[in-house]
Order: sequence, then C-alpha cells, then structure tokens
Amino acid sequence: MKSKILNRLRGAEEFVSGQQLCEEFGVSRTAVWKAINQLKEEGYEIEAVHNKGYRLLGCPDIISAEEVKSRLHTDWAGCEVKYFDTLDSTNICAKRMAEEGAPNGTLVIADEQTAGRGRCGRAWETPKGTAIAMTLLMRPNLRPEKASMLTLVMGMAVTRAVNELYSLNCQIKWPNDVVWEGKKICGILVEMSAEMNAIHYLVIGCGINANMTEFPEELKEKAISLRMITGDEVDRAQIIQHSLEWLEKYYQKFEETSDMSGLMEEYNQMLVNRESEVCVLDPCGEYRGRALGINDAGELLVEKEDGTTENVYAGEVSV
Ligand code: BTN
Repeated sequence: MKSKILNRLRGAEEFVSGQQLCEEFGVSRTAVWKAINQLKEEGYEIEAVHNKGYRLLGCPDIISAEEVKSRLHTDWAGCEVKYFDTLDSTNICAKRMAEEGAPNGTLVIADEQTAGRGRCGRAWETPKGTAIAMTLLMRPNLRPEKASMLTLVMGMAVTRAVNELYSLNCQIKWPNDVVWEGKKICGILVEMSAEMNAIHYLVIGCGINANMTEFPEELKEKAISLRMITGDEVDRAQIIQHSLEWLEKYYQKFEETSDMSGLMEEYNQMLVNRESEVCVLDPCGEYRGRALGINDAGELLVEKEDGTTENVYAGEVSV
C-alpha cells in the first residue's frame, strides 16, 4: 500500500485527496492516513492540506522496498524487493532466499553490508547510507557454462544506466567492472547453484559506489563514487531502477540466442580495454596482448605478440 501511494503522489502534479486514494486503492481513510504517516516517519516530505489532500514535496535518499518498488517499470526484475538496513552480504541473503523458494526476479537490497564479498575472495566495502548493494535472484533456463555471460549483461545495464542518468562515459573493464577514467564505480559478483546440465538459481550481486565522499587509502587510486564524479549527491533508488530496467531489456536480447551475439557490438563499444594492450592474469599463467573485444560467448579475444589469439574465459585483465 505504501509503495502504491508513494507512486501515485510521485506521479501527481497537484494534490491528491485522501478520498481519491481510498477509492483508487480500495482501502479505508485510516489505512491511507497510516501509510502517509509511515512515509513521513521514513523521511518523505508530504504536505497535507485540508480539503485538498496530499502532495509529495521531497524524497530522502533511501532505498527501501517501497521506494524502489514504487519506481520500477519492469516485468520480472524486482518483482519482489527485500530491503535490510544491515546485512552480512546481499548475495548470501539472496542465496538463502533462493533455497527457501523465492521467485525469479527477487531483489535483495541492503543499506550496509558487514561482510560484503568481491571477486576472487576479496572483501567489498558497503558503508551505511552511501553505497548500493543489491543482488538479483534469477532462475534462468540456461546451461551452467553460460551463467558467466549474465555478469556481462549486468555490467552493461549498470553502465548504460549511469551514463544516461549523469551524462557520463563510464566503460566496462572485462568482464564486468564499471569504470570511469580507470577508476572503479561498480563491481559484480555472480554466484550459482547448479548441477551438470541445469542451473537451480543464480544470484547477481552488484555493488555501486554511489555517494561516498572518500575511500580508504588503499582504494583511493582504484575506486571513485558517482558523487565524486558528478559533484552532487546521486539518487540511489533511481540508479537501482534504471539498472534493473536496462537489465531486463538486455536480458531479453540475450535470451533470444542464449549468448552475447545480439549484445556483442554494444558491449564492445563499452569496453575500455578494446584495442588496447592488456595483461591477462590467467589461472595458468600471465601474458600480454592486445584486447580485440568479446566473442558471442562473452570471452575476451586477446591477440598475443606471436600473432595467435587467445579466448580468455576466466581470470582478470589489467592494463
Ligand atoms: C568485485 O569484486 O568487483 C565484485 C564486487 C561485488 C559486490 C556486491 S555488493 C552486493 C553483493 N553482495 C556482496 O556481498 N557482493 C556483491
């Protein structure tokens, strides 16, 4: 109810009367009054004028389930939104929910993570109130070896969302780091439960540096936030909304072929390493070469000095 009322007030240019809200949502005056008061307690500025109704004057930068749900125009991504003030890790929580039967498209959001996880066993910082930590649960009908491509799809979605929202030129460092002028603004971690031929579920965890104003010494050279880039506080719920909306669009394209063929061109345009010298940190050894772009399996093609081309499917690349 709260998210419906919020959505209605957000879309209205004039006051919306309590009576209108009751009729539209089939609830009592008391239920409307309660929902409005809860929203006010959460920090929404709602003007209430006798004989006119309610008007939304301001929204706090919160990423509650109501806030996110009330903005989403998606078919399945974020069909259920679970919000937590604090969690160890949204990936851990989403996996637990998956085991308990949560549906495809469930989104877990936390305002703070105390044990956020990054790729290659690294830790991921999510300080309270300033970052975005979200995990999308999916139950795709895909062979397990194709799952890694979904990290690329999420990388594209976040890149497209923040570029459009803030007129930026963020790019993707293969496979899925979103970077701005070489500094990371978003990392993605996909974890999956599968058997040989089928995925039971997978969780796509996404950490976005939104409103941090500084980073610890060891990250200063490597990370940056959208606020530090734009000079203004960014709207975290809006970033979540646009990222999920783009994810759905890109995923629809991905589903047509179950590979990256329909997205490859756009991904390669977003690729920061394209046509540049890279160092491949391959599990079997390190080598240098020129990155050509991805193929339809999402592998990075790297031309080595001896003229041969490697298809890099795992590991990391650095410049
Ligand atoms: C990376 O190392 O680049 C991946 C970082 C992924 C961080 C996100 S934050 C939300 C989700 N929960 C986690 O514990 N990790 C991911």
